[in-house]
Amino acid sequence: MLRLEDVNTYYGYSHILQGVSLEVKEGEIVVLLGRNGVGKTTTMKTIMGVQPPKSGKVFFLEDNIAGQAPHKISRKGISLIPEDRRVIPNLTVLENLRLGSLMHTKPDERDGLVEMCFAYFPRLKERIKHLGGNLSGGEQQMLTIARALMGRPKLMLIDEPSEGLAPKIVHEIMEIIKQLQKDGRTIMLVEQHMEIAMRLSDNQRAYIMEKGQIRMCGTLDELSCRMDEVVQCLGVKV
Ligand SMILES: Nc1ncnc2c1ncn2[C@@H]1O[C@H](COP(=O)(O)OP(=O)(O)OP(=O)(O)O)[C@@H](O)[C@H]1O
Ligand SMILES: [Mg+2]
Repeated sequence: MLRLEDVNTYYGYSHILQGVSLEVKEGEIVVLLGRNGVGKTTTMKTIMGVQPPKSGKVFFLEDNIAGQAPHKISRKGISLIPEDRRVIPNLTVLENLRLGSLMHTKPDERDGLVEMCFAYFPRLKERIKHLGGNLSGGEQQMLTIARALMGRPKLMLIDEPSEGLAPKIVHEIMEIIKQLQKDGRTIMLVEQHMEIAMRLSDNQRAYIMEKGQIRMCGTLDELSCRMDEVVQCLGVKV
């Protein structure tokens, strides 16, 4: 569904992504792992067209979308759930959700989509009239994922959903992400911690990035057999 071929992305003169190639097939969850500052978010911004590549190809459903405007890429069915959780603080949960469907759906489909989101995130249903700004960090993360679902994306790019959240909430969110895949969705997930990625099933694939390059790839099962190298790439004990 998504294929990056030898992608190079710069911020000014800083060469951040250095020949990144990776693939996400329909129905997969693919994890992009790497320590702070290696280029994970930049990879997602490159796919979305927010930080377009200087060279290389980004194929989505066999179209090369490299260099296209972000709104066009979004319309093709890719949705980015950013690491900074951009919930609108002075809109309610329901209003935030509806915003997610404005561009992509007909008005009579929206109530059904809201119900679908509440089935995944019952906590949000309990908070339906609460303002986005009054939600906990975990609830804001859930709302950002749910808002993306409202646009019925073909591919969801989820950037570090676990960041700064309590272990119990991380567990809840990972279970929901697993369920989204079971229901047929395709997901690329950015994560810093191998132990969180390992909660996905063994046959899911992961790429490990270091200094803007892909250093390792394989199923989580295969990577867990090469833990010494993984620890070296991630720079932490796992
Ligand atoms: N807007 C920007 N302008 C210049 N340099 C940037 C910009 N955004 C990121 N960088 C640099 O690009 C590199 C990769 O950043 P990126 O945000 O992609 O890393 P990351 O892997 O997502 O890290 P984190 O785990 O901290 O989110 C870093 O060295 C960072 O300092
Ligand atoms: Mg990041």
